[in-house]
Amino acid sequence: MPATIDLTTDELLTTTRAVRKRLDFDRPVDLELVKECLQLGLQAPSGSNAQGWNFMVVTDADKKKAIGELYKDVFFNTYAPSPGSVHSRAKEAPESEQKIAIAVRESADHLANNMARVPVMVIPCVMGRLNLVPPETSTLAWTGSLGSIFPAMWSFMLAARTRGLGTCWTSLHLLKEQEVADILGIPYDEVTQTALISVGHTIGDTFKATTRRPLGNALHVDSW
Ligand SMILES: Cc1cc2nc3c(=O)[nH]c(=O)nc-3n(C[C@H](O)[C@H](O)[C@H](O)COP(=O)(O)O)c2cc1C
Repeated sequence: MPATIDLTTDELLTTTRAVRKRLDFDRPVDLELVKECLQLGLQAPSGSNAQGWNFMVVTDADKKKAIGELYKDVFFNTYAPSPGSVHSRAKEAPESEQKIAIAVRESADHLANNMARVPVMVIPCVMGRLNLVPPETSTLAWTGSLGSIFPAMWSFMLAARTRGLGTCWTSLHLLKEQEVADILGIPYDEVTQTALISVGHTIGDTFKATTRRPLGNALHVDSW
């Protein structure tokens, strides 16, 4: 199926937003469209070309409801009061960043309140339990594992954008990872969930580039 939205590469890279408020919770998403985007994700790199990725796609209403309730609970009761949350950031952001920080908080609240209603959830998984990796090997093990699935997921999200689907990378359900594993029959002892990407058709398809902190704040050439 051809892409539905005509974007240049630079437009695609600058307008693939975390879509929460403009996600159509009531319009079903064809599973074939999700599979098509995942198929494109498989062209992403993985360490040693091992391709040890697994993608749990959730469409069942009862399962989404159960996961959505867990997400909402963690979001408002554990994450929101914590330092570094979008709620804390919105309170503490300097004047110049406050508008965006408040918009992100409102948007994240909206998704948390509606997570059970997202048409599709995609949970990228890696083999093994990352939280049991011995500390002395952890940098390589963690970056190798996550670096071998996150590029595929970002490709998935870019492909989704060109097909009129909006996505949002979320991670907070990982505080209830075992409960979610039980809901989905994921063997928790052998498989680590790494994220939960919400997927739905977008309301309108025009998205804008956003303001980020300047590259100069993050750039180091030849020495730190
Ligand atoms: C590792 C990671 C974890 C994230 N976890 C969550 C989450 O649990 N819930 C949520 O609403 N958004 C989550 N996000 C989305 C970010 O808030 C979002 O990417 C950021 O605000 C930038 O959005 P923008 O591209 O639309 O400006 C996460 C993003 C990343 C990369």
